[in-house]
Amino acid sequence: MKAIEIRNKYLNFFKSHGHSVIPSAPLIPENDPSVLFTTAGMQPLVPYLLGEKHPAGTRLTDYQKCVRTVDIEEVGDNRHLTYFEMLGNWSLGDYFKEESIKMSFDFLTKELQIPVEKLSVTCFAGDGDCPRDEVSAKCWKEVGIPVDRIYFYGKDDNWWIAGEEGPCGPDTEMFYDTGKPACGDNCQPSCDCGKYVEIWNNVFMEYFKDNKGNYSKLEQKNVDTGLGLERMAMLLQGKETPFDTELFEPVMKKLEELQKLDDIQSRRIIAEHLRSSMMIVCDGGRPSNIDRGYVLRRLIRRMIRHMNKLQINLEEISKLIELNVENLKEMYPDLEKNKETIKAVILEEKNKFVKTLTHGEKEFNKEMMKLKEQDKDVVDGQVVFRLYDTYGFPPEVTKELAEENGLKVDMKKFDELFKTHQEKSRLGSEAKFKGGLADQNEKTISYHTATHLLHQALRTILGEHVKQSGSNITEERLRFDFTHPQKMTKEEIQQVEDLVNEQIKRDLTVTCEEMSYEEAKASGAIGLFTDKYGDRVKVYTIGDFSKEICGGPHVTHTGDMGTFKIKKEESSSSGIRRIKAILIKE
Ligand code: ALA
Repeated sequence: MKAIEIRNKYLNFFKSHGHSVIPSAPLIPENDPSVLFTTAGMQPLVPYLLGEKHPAGTRLTDYQKCVRTVDIEEVGDNRHLTYFEMLGNWSLGDYFKEESIKMSFDFLTKELQIPVEKLSVTCFAGDGDCPRDEVSAKCWKEVGIPVDRIYFYGKDDNWWIAGEEGPCGPDTEMFYDTGKPACGDNCQPSCDCGKYVEIWNNVFMEYFKDNKGNYSKLEQKNVDTGLGLERMAMLLQGKETPFDTELFEPVMKKLEELQKLDDIQSRRIIAEHLRSSMMIVCDGGRPSNIDRGYVLRRLIRRMIRHMNKLQINLEEISKLIELNVENLKEMYPDLEKNKETIKAVILEEKNKFVKTLTHGEKEFNKEMMKLKEQDKDVVDGQVVFRLYDTYGFPPEVTKELAEENGLKVDMKKFDELFKTHQEKSRLGSEAKFKGGLADQNEKTISYHTATHLLHQALRTILGEHVKQSGSNITEERLRFDFTHPQKMTKEEIQQVEDLVNEQIKRDLTVTCEEMSYEEAKASGAIGLFTDKYGDRVKVYTIGDFSKEICGGPHVTHTGDMGTFKIKKEESSSSGIRRIKAILIKE
């Protein structure tokens, strides 16, 4: 069964069970700079899971375009994808476990005709926060899953939350038995050997986890489900990887024709990153050196690197885009509408990268010759740094090139140099490393730092429920959206203003450190980048007052920022307040 048939069957099935079909939200979340891309069907629905009324009712279904970028480096193996489509159905305080499980079972066994023997399920084993999910297990038994194929696991496997805070709950997951031999006596759905593949996740969202890790009951019991379309297509077609399905096959075949060297991993990377980049550009993404734009840039550049590796002429990109549009336009009609833009954006990025590569590779080769002469096999971090600093040559490319040549790279040293340099010449280095910030000037940088001070001041005065939900800076003002249930009082506004001004007067030092996301969280840094590219993040600390994950840039000292004044406090949308503020300089 083709992917599009699976999608149509899914939507029709849930429609016939009283669900409204809602459109896929854009890949780039609207008004939410805190997450890079839409990563799950529930993401655009959070306000409704928390109790807001959805105009389409209490039963919803959709297909959602998703990008998850934590695994970019893994793409090329037989399962990782950065772009994928998630089919979902939701109950917003409507049906719960029993009906949800019954519908999932019927859809799998009747509509998709998966034999019951191929299905195993897992349920939440229970802990101090939430009891063992005997209800789900009982429902599975009643629909026909034998008890020996109902497994119980803890939070690591059977609990779902997007990020660290928000609506969440125990889930029940469905697994497909590929028929491969068991890897041992204890082979179970939780094992990675490939025998069992997770196909659907039904989350019973009746809890809310706050930022201190406490759980409370939500007002309504919701169901949030997610079924990965590419994976389902692969299984139903009896294929080994998503790249063998009709979604990728034409491009994969074309690459095989075009390549001068054979490497299946590279072909997969090219096909996957091409589709992902096309979808992101189609939804308005543009390459840049920060955040979303940087993810897109990395995807396009990694694709090009692998085209070079297979010695495929880069002029073929245009044709590959055309081929993908033809192949995918029935599923994503917008691809055809935006075809010319997609081509223009990807080709322009290609041209930029070719220039960078030509210079950088020449230099890299010189360095490699030196190493060989000296009989060494480690590329010094200093060299990686120089290639980046002087030629804009991405460190990940240096690393890949080195590894292809059997060399190791001292990335630790590179990271250290990167950090030191950044601290030494804040603005100059920011503009170079994070190129796209060339348009940043003193005023916008001050507003950026003021935004961090405001964020922390709001949390101090109003409470820790305050979370950034949007931010926009011009040379004239900052605009900051945050979660807070009611209008701020005059006194609160005054207190926040005073607190920010106090920090400015204290002339606090602003420092930046690079660390892993986990370290950043452990250090108490605020910031909502649940899906930040790579595993390194920058943490900006303003004296003893604020610590926040952020791309920068910021002032070095708060003393010269001017006087902070809140001009307006108003409602932005349900549960979200908006502040506009200015810095007045003498
Ligand atoms: N939100 C759940 C997931 O992404 C369904 O797995």
